[in-house]
Amino acid sequence: MPEFSKGLEGVVAAETQMSFIDGQQGVLEYVGIAIGDLASSSTFEETVYLLWNKKLPTQAELDAFTKDLRANYDPPQGVLDMVKGMPKDAQPMHALRSLVSALSLFDDNPNANDVPAAREKALKILAATPAIVAAFDRHRRGEAFVAPDKSLGFSANFLYMLNGEKPTDAMTRAFDICMITHADHGLNNSTFTARVVISTLSDLYSAMTAAIGSLRGPLHGGANEGVMVMLNELDSVEAAEKYVQDKLANKDRIMGFGHRVYKSKDPRASELQTLAKQLAEDTGNMDLYDKSHAIEVVMEREVAKKGIYPNVDFYSATTYHCIGLKLDLFTPMFALSRLAGWSGHVIEQLEDNRLFRPTTNYVGPHGVAYTDIANR
Ligand code: CMC
Repeated sequence: MPEFSKGLEGVVAAETQMSFIDGQQGVLEYVGIAIGDLASSSTFEETVYLLWNKKLPTQAELDAFTKDLRANYDPPQGVLDMVKGMPKDAQPMHALRSLVSALSLFDDNPNANDVPAAREKALKILAATPAIVAAFDRHRRGEAFVAPDKSLGFSANFLYMLNGEKPTDAMTRAFDICMITHADHGLNNSTFTARVVISTLSDLYSAMTAAIGSLRGPLHGGANEGVMVMLNELDSVEAAEKYVQDKLANKDRIMGFGHRVYKSKDPRASELQTLAKQLAEDTGNMDLYDKSHAIEVVMEREVAKKGIYPNVDFYSATTYHCIGLKLDLFTPMFALSRLAGWSGHVIEQLEDNRLFRPTTNYVGPHGVAYTDIANR
């Protein structure tokens, strides 16, 4: 029997050329480029091109890719009609999961999963999903949908469709950095989910839908909402000490801390910390940043020795709040970006597929007599 590894910890289950993580040294690279360099110099469009093509684009290649993305900003009308029929109190992640799934209903050939077809579908899903999230949020607010503006980049267009006004350059850049830093991250749970689904030679829509379901969990992408809830529970910066101590004493988890892979500070957390601080200053939200930092100081003292440090979700909460996003849109933002990583991994899986089919250790009884229902 192969060795049992609970949670598949330590098991190498796929090969990728997209992202490299050194959890001890706190390194994350996309196709060999440090995440900090991409955060400071790249755009989300360029980063997606890099992940999907394993090289930085020339200007002509980037222009062509951007043009393709913009041409696909509009979701099918049928999907927008579905948004209008959704309960206004539905949770955005459930709406998003259902609507990404529904995109397949408007595709003439949804099952095509040769690599060129998968790449085309990946582009269409990535391009149209911002409009879906924005439409759902406007629907629940009773506001008319805002059509995409194809003169705008991915991030500016999303914020425009959400708010009905063009974002400032600073907000656009901040949001773009969030998109870059969340785009891919090795074989995280949702990415693994996407690869598992496509390994049956299912379709891209099914893989993306399943991945969104995985991302929603509080141990994964849902943690950024949990961080904001925690920050809101703190009356003051000074309250952080007792709050964290009480949680640790009760063996509760502090959201936004710890990682299966990183045993040092997540490099994305460092990038987002700088961004969160700047945005908090600019938008009058320094109390949020200060509370976050106070929590980090206590955690550093109490649990850093166990390898528990801030992860990507910790400072993304303050960042998204300062950008003006509602709490329950934080995880959908993660999904908007991670669609790039999921689809890149699905393409890699299709290029060299082997059905995922681990095994179990059966630990139940054997030889049990079947008892008639009347005698149980
Ligand atoms: N707060 C307090 N203690 C923690 C935390 C935390 N956030 N995370 C881990 N620990 C402790 C845990 O209690 C355990 O202690 P002990 O050995 O005394 O029982 C030890 O650290 C190891 O925990 P684990 O659950 O075996 O570690 P894991 O590798 O399975 O957990 C994790 C990884 C992300 C699920 C976990 O750190 C966690 O629950 N964090 C909070 C949720 C969170 O922030 N998730 C976002 C992850 S990063 C972005 C993403 O993937 O989407």
